[in-house]
Amino acid sequence: MKIKFVDLLAQNEEIRDRIERELAELHRHTAYVGGESVESFEREFAKFLGVDHAIGVGSGTDALRLALLALGIGPGDEVITTPMSFIATTAAVLQTGATPAFVDVNPDTGNIDAEAVRRYLRGGDFRAPNGPKAILPVHLYGLPAPMNELSEIANSFHLDLIEDACQAHGARVMTRDGWRSAGSFGAAACFSFYPGKNLGAWGEAGAVVTGDGELAAAVRALRDHGRISHYAHDRIGYNARLDALQAAVLRAKLEHLGGWNARRRRIAATYRDLLRDSGLLLPLELPGVESVYHLFVVRSPDRDQIRQALLNDGIECGIHYPVPIHLQPACGALGYKPGDFPVSESFADTVLSLPMHPHLKDSDLERIAGVVRSAMRSNHTSLAGGLRPETSVAPPLANGN
Ligand SMILES: Cc1ncc(COP(=O)(O)O)c(C=O)c1O
Repeated sequence: MKIKFVDLLAQNEEIRDRIERELAELHRHTAYVGGESVESFEREFAKFLGVDHAIGVGSGTDALRLALLALGIGPGDEVITTPMSFIATTAAVLQTGATPAFVDVNPDTGNIDAEAVRRYLRGGDFRAPNGPKAILPVHLYGLPAPMNELSEIANSFHLDLIEDACQAHGARVMTRDGWRSAGSFGAAACFSFYPGKNLGAWGEAGAVVTGDGELAAAVRALRDHGRISHYAHDRIGYNARLDALQAAVLRAKLEHLGGWNARRRRIAATYRDLLRDSGLLLPLELPGVESVYHLFVVRSPDRDQIRQALLNDGIECGIHYPVPIHLQPACGALGYKPGDFPVSESFADTVLSLPMHPHLKDSDLERIAGVVRSAMRSNHTSLAGGLRPETSVAPPLANGN
């Protein structure tokens, strides 16, 4: 029997009754773009995160681009970010005309390293004429980046902080004032509702969240052709609106998100028990942060062999990400080279994402762990026989972004 990497059908079964009612409503009202269901979702998602404003947009990439533009980031400006992410994080910076400046990630977490950010800022050797204007951390795999440290750095260097929270719906960070949601720290935070995310739509969707009313108004205008009233446009904007069908699905799934995230955390704990002492590097449970395990990513120099054994057994898995962004052909003009970010490059060579979704059964986890352990054993036997397996650079990905 196949084990899926994500199981969207199982999610649909849980929301079936509500979504049928919502679709019947949509059928009657024919308000397909914007409207009441989008506004309700925006209010409910803002409440879920404990922020003042959420603005639904067309995708996570739109959310990043519009948040950066609304903050005035553009040509000549630098945005400090991580090379260990989906390419959209960097693409959004480039789409504003600004220059991404990468710093390496922390070897324990894969998240941007706060000390490396500080060193970069102190070094003063910048890549664009205006120097750094913002820091754009990513909460990689659902684990919050070091937000207390990054907030402090952003304050002392007078930079905007924008969170790429596309993988971290409901993750939390302990602060001096108690737990806060990932997404509530920056001037703005950006979410993707790509179908496989912890909160996923039935198509493309995203949101910008912010505590700043003026910024929220600017993003609202930018997502809708710079519109400030029906026929008045005070700037050239984009068509980046959220549609009502996606909002209806997101409202229905938002009711389940807390429970689904809790189940993901229990699955991570079970994986950790089953794979303890296996020789794999497992994701750390750090004090003061609560991951929502969008992905459960293990690391091993034998990654490719383990991946092949899982696929042979009908177990879907992925690699997030096999090529760090600074080495992507699309980013060649930025002038980075292999060796510039050794920790990110080592992640790219060793990471493997095991199946992770709230509908996995304990028996699935036992089967996955069994295949992983036996692949590691047989690989060590073959290494002992003197064979060094080739490592593939960029295996095909079965699971989108
Ligand atoms: C970290 C990260 N940033 C940005 C994005 C872009 O989101 P979208 O695919 O909704 O445009 C994604 C989605 O895959 C992501 O994982």
